[in-house]
Amino acid sequence: MLRGGGAGQAQHHQRGACWLPCATTTTTTTKTAAAAAATATATACARRPASSSSLAPPAAAAAAAAAADPLGASLAEKRAAAEAAGTWKSERVIQGPQGPRVRVGGKELRNFCSNSYLGLSNAPSVVAAAKRALDTHGFGLASVRFICGTTDLHVALEERLAAWLGAEACILFPSGFDANAGVFEALLGPRDAVVSDALNHASIIDGVRLCKARRHRYAHGDVAGLEAALREAASGGGGGDGDGGPSTPAAATTTTTLVVTDGVFSMDGAVAPLERIVPLVRRTPGAYLMVDDCHASGFWGATGRGTAEARGLLGSDSSGGSSSSSSGGGSSSGSSSGSKKNDMGGVDILSSTLGKALGGATGGFVCARADVVAQLRQAARPYLFSNTLAPSVAAATLAVLDVVQGEEGDALRAALRRNAALFRGAMADAGFSLGGGGGGGGGGAGPHPIVPVMLGDAALASEFARRMLERHGVYVVAFSYPVVPKGTARIRVQLSAAHSEADVEACVAAFVAVGREMGVLPPAARG
Ligand SMILES: Cc1ncc(COP(=O)(O)O)c(C=O)c1O
Repeated sequence: MLRGGGAGQAQHHQRGACWLPCATTTTTTTKTAAAAAATATATACARRPASSSSLAPPAAAAAAAAAADPLGASLAEKRAAAEAAGTWKSERVIQGPQGPRVRVGGKELRNFCSNSYLGLSNAPSVVAAAKRALDTHGFGLASVRFICGTTDLHVALEERLAAWLGAEACILFPSGFDANAGVFEALLGPRDAVVSDALNHASIIDGVRLCKARRHRYAHGDVAGLEAALREAASGGGGGDGDGGPSTPAAATTTTTLVVTDGVFSMDGAVAPLERIVPLVRRTPGAYLMVDDCHASGFWGATGRGTAEARGLLGSDSSGGSSSSSSGGGSSSGSSSGSKKNDMGGVDILSSTLGKALGGATGGFVCARADVVAQLRQAARPYLFSNTLAPSVAAATLAVLDVVQGEEGDALRAALRRNAALFRGAMADAGFSLGGGGGGGGGGAGPHPIVPVMLGDAALASEFARRMLERHGVYVVAFSYPVVPKGTARIRVQLSAAHSEADVEACVAAFVAVGREMGVLPPAARG
C-alpha cells in the first residue's frame, strides 16, 4: 500500500486550503494518484463560494496533494516533463510473431526496428527446436543454475558458443543486461580499475557502478583518450565513481585494469576501433579488454563472429580457433586449461546477447578464459540469484547456431549487407543526414545494419516516426535524450536479412515523403 493512499482513497485537503473532503472526487483509478489528487483539489475548490475567505492559491492545494502522495506527485511531474519534451515512451502491441512485417492494431506494418538482424526470431527450424525441447525438457527449471537449473542443453550451448567465438569457456546469463551487470563486481576489487567508453550501454554503466574498482572514462571512440585514462589508472590516481560521487580510495598499485567498450554502439551503429584498442591494451601491463558484442554477434564480420572479426582481428579459421598469440596482461596469459586457447582477436572478455540476431528470445553470455568464467559462476550475482534460461531457449539457440555457422548464415549475412548498403545509399542520396556507418577494417563487414537518421529535435523525431507508421505503415522508433545526447534525436532504422528489396525501397520512400512534409528535406522539384 502506498503511503498517503492512491487514487480512489478519501483524502482531506490541508486545513484552511479547502472546505470539502475530496472523497467525492477521487473516483478514477486510471489516473496517477497525484493527477487524481490534483483533479480532486480543483473540483472541490471550484464548488467553494467565490467570496470564501478561506480561498487558497492553487499552489497551496497542489502542495497539499503532493504531501499526501509524494510518489504520485513526483511521477506525475516526471511524466508531464517527458510528455512536454516528446520523450514519453508508449508500447505498441504486436499481434503475432516478430518479423520484417508485424501486425499492430489489425494492420500489417513493415518493421524496421527489431534486432532480429538475421530474421531468425521466427525461423521454422528454430521454432521446431524449441518445441522439441519443450517435450524433452519441459517448460521451466524453477531454479538457478547452481542448484538444479543446469541441463545438458545449457552445457551444450555454452560449449558451442565458446568454440565458435574462440573462447576457452562460456557462461550463460538470463539476459545480456545481466551478463554486463554481473561481470565487474565478480572480477574486480578496490585495487583494480575500469576504463570505460563514455557511450557504453546502460548495462555496462550499471555493472561498473556495482563494483568497487576505480572508474575512468574516455570520450566515445577516442583512442588517445583511452591511452590517457590507462596512464591515469596505472598511476593509481584519478578515477571517480562515475556518478559524480567521491572516488573509491586509490590503491597504491593497480593490479587489474579492465577496458570495456561496446563493439557496436546501439544508438548509432558506430563501431569501436578495436584494431587500435587491442594493441594499446596488449602493451599496457595488467590491462585486459572486454567487448559487448550484442549488436554484432551472429551477423557482423564475414562469419558473424562480431566486431573483432569485422575489424580484421580474427584469423582465417572460421571455426573460431586460435590464430595469434597473446602478450601483455590479456588474452591467453594465465589460461588454465590444456588444449583450448582463449583467442578472440585480442578481446579477453566478450559479453553478448541471445536476444537479438541469435534468435531474439532471451539470454546473454560471457565468453572468456576458463578461470574468468569459473569465477563468474561463483560470484556473478545475476547468475547466482536469478532463474536459469528456459531449456527451450537453449535448444533453439543451438539451432540458431546451426544456421549462423553454416552456408545459410553466409547467405543471410550477405542479404543483410545488401539491405544495409541499399538503405544507406538511397537515404544519403535523398539528402538525409545519417550517423554510424561501420564497415571497413578488412573483416568482411559492409555497412552496419543500424542506420540512425539524424533529426536533432526530439519532438520532430517523434512526430516523424508517428507519421511513418500511421501514414505509410513503416514501423520505426525515435530516440531522444536521455537515451542519446541532447540535440541528437534520431530515428534508428535497423535492417534485417529478412527484408526484401521492396521493403527497403518502401521504407526509403516513406522517409522521403515524411521528410518533405516536415521540411527535413526540400520539397520535390516540380516537373
Ligand atoms: C549494447 C547492449 N548491451 C547489452 C544489452 C542487453 O541485452 P539483453 O536485451 O539481452 O538484456 C543490449 C540490449 O539492448 C545492448 O544493446
